[in-house]
Amino acid sequence: MTPGRGGTTLRVEVVDEADGAEGIGRRAADVVAEELAAGRLATFGVATGSSPLQVYADLAARRLPGWDAVEVFALDEYVGLPAGDPRSYAAVVEEEVRAPLGLDPARVHVPDGTATTEAGLAAACAAYEAALTARGGADVQLLGIGATGHIGFNEPGSPLSSRTRVVELAATTVADNARFFARPEDVPRRAVTQGVATIATARRHVLIARGEHKAEAVRAALEGPVSPACPASAVRTFADVLVLLDPAAASRLTRVPVGAGPAA
Ligand code: F6R
Repeated sequence: MTPGRGGTTLRVEVVDEADGAEGIGRRAADVVAEELAAGRLATFGVATGSSPLQVYADLAARRLPGWDAVEVFALDEYVGLPAGDPRSYAAVVEEEVRAPLGLDPARVHVPDGTATTEAGLAAACAAYEAALTARGGADVQLLGIGATGHIGFNEPGSPLSSRTRVVELAATTVADNARFFARPEDVPRRAVTQGVATIATARRHVLIARGEHKAEAVRAALEGPVSPACPASAVRTFADVLVLLDPAAASRLTRVPVGAGPAA
């Protein structure tokens, strides 16, 4: 393990291009499976988006025992989509995580972004934060990273001390998310997200990034200052972090991570 800040461990691995998404998915699934087999996965923190899809597929294919006791918490949800909307993260978690792993729906939690008043949204944020805190945070938290450097939907400028709240999505994120919506004007501009400090409460984190469009955010997160300017840089203060990259996402790192070829 490479020492991070403050006695944390941060390990960065570049997964062979030939292994692609499957290779990264397998490596991340190994971490989750290891915790599950050891009886340490009481709470599993899941991310949506494309980065972790292969992790869920890999875990489902393994047909591991023990899932019935696991509680799942998602990172974030759009504000303004009606309950049951197929583009909501609740629907994505149902399709990609709950159903394939055969989890009890009562044990799967996604922030509620359906309230139509600010007070209602604030209450939903507080309830979500309290429910996750009551479990002592996630045992393993999967993370993607946005091209903006966001984790969850904590966009640049998010305090590293932030907790679950309503946020405005960065223009780049709205554009990135447009691929899931028929018309650009349908893309939600706001979301409920776990804060950076909420995400930090997890015992282990696995952050996944693939593709050239993530390379600058990955560099800023791992080699830039730990700062709200790049919320993902906070992972360097977390207790136990594994960063899994494909060669394109790792291409702007100046220090050669584990598994990467010699520096050019
Ligand atoms: C999703 C989430 C986001 C994504 C990030 C990367 O729940 O919290 O931070 O992980 O936007 O998205 P993909 O994986 O689609 O590139």
